[in-house]
Amino acid sequence: MTNDLNRYFDNAATSWPKPEAVYTAAEKQMRLAYGNPGRSGHTHTLASDRLVYQAREAIGKLFNIKDPARVVFCLNATDALNMAIKGCLQKGDHVLYTAMEHNSVLRPLARLRREGLISTTMIPCNDEGFPDLDYLENAYQPETRLLVVNHASNVTGTLAPLSKIIYSAHNKGVKVLVDAAQTAGAVPIDVEDYDIDMLAFTGHKGLLGPTGTGSLYVKPGIDLTPLREGGTGSQSEMDVHPETMPERLEAGTLNSAGLAGLLEGVNFLLENDVMSVRRSETELRSYLYSRLQEIKGIKIYGPRSAQDSTAVLSFTLEGADCGDVGYILENSYGIICRTGLHCAPLAHQAIGTFPQGTVRLSPGYFTDKNDIDFLSGALKEIAELSTGN
Ligand code: ALA
Repeated sequence: MTNDLNRYFDNAATSWPKPEAVYTAAEKQMRLAYGNPGRSGHTHTLASDRLVYQAREAIGKLFNIKDPARVVFCLNATDALNMAIKGCLQKGDHVLYTAMEHNSVLRPLARLRREGLISTTMIPCNDEGFPDLDYLENAYQPETRLLVVNHASNVTGTLAPLSKIIYSAHNKGVKVLVDAAQTAGAVPIDVEDYDIDMLAFTGHKGLLGPTGTGSLYVKPGIDLTPLREGGTGSQSEMDVHPETMPERLEAGTLNSAGLAGLLEGVNFLLENDVMSVRRSETELRSYLYSRLQEIKGIKIYGPRSAQDSTAVLSFTLEGADCGDVGYILENSYGIICRTGLHCAPLAHQAIGTFPQGTVRLSPGYFTDKNDIDFLSGALKEIAELSTGN
């Protein structure tokens, strides 16, 4: 492993490094509190149970979710989105989504559409990734039940105008599912202020936790049909899945080691304040933007202002294949990034980079400005070779 030597610019895929407490808590959970949360009443089970509850509470505090029982644990943002989409839609429903959505939204919707169960309308986005709000106003139908919106694009970092979109949807009686895969822990989110109906997020990106952790917040009053049914450790005499939350949407043993790590990631954010994480990432993104702008042959996509974006920046280099750029960055300079379509083909169509994709750079809270200087030096050298200037 050469991780310590690498300069890591792929936090939009998964954050690294994690706070030290995340590593130790996950290990401690496996070594010491090895009980199955919610099953039986022995000491180890109760310790695991407590930990899972603390994780729900900490997440509740981070997003201003008053009732921790509305925080449903699952595998990742994709899992949470599937749970929300498939749990709330019925035959004949119409769904709105934006062009910046990830395949975790596009593919479940496409399958339901292909099977003739739902109809959908895509809200187009401009070449900076902002949705066309006039188009949205005219896209509602009497059957529209759900609007799915990516809080921030994983390709360009573009932050959707969430308040306006939710206001518009609620005016038409439509529920809103927010995909916060890129923003949870990176941008302050208050579910009550925004009046969010469902918030899907992963634990391993901005929340600084391990992979295999994620969650769906479901606003009180919204009832979803469970995606899975099975053991919950409660009402075991019945062959119907419990209706109480969060068991209604959780079945099977939870990832308690992962949740132990996630709890520490969220505690780190509560101690350090998401607003201050946001400020530091905004500064890194501005700095990265300005350094890349100096390089001849580089075209940057997404919002010019870091205020309108997460710490994500996509670019192409004239005369170079983006996969080759990523390969050279890693193999000649030890710089890690992600290239291609980033599982978001429509976003690339919107910004004009389909099908070749982009090179995506995503610094994180622990990125040093010196690493950005090193990266821009490397890109300058690669650009000189590829453009011949
Ligand atoms: N969706 C993640 C990314 O954008 C994995 O890289």
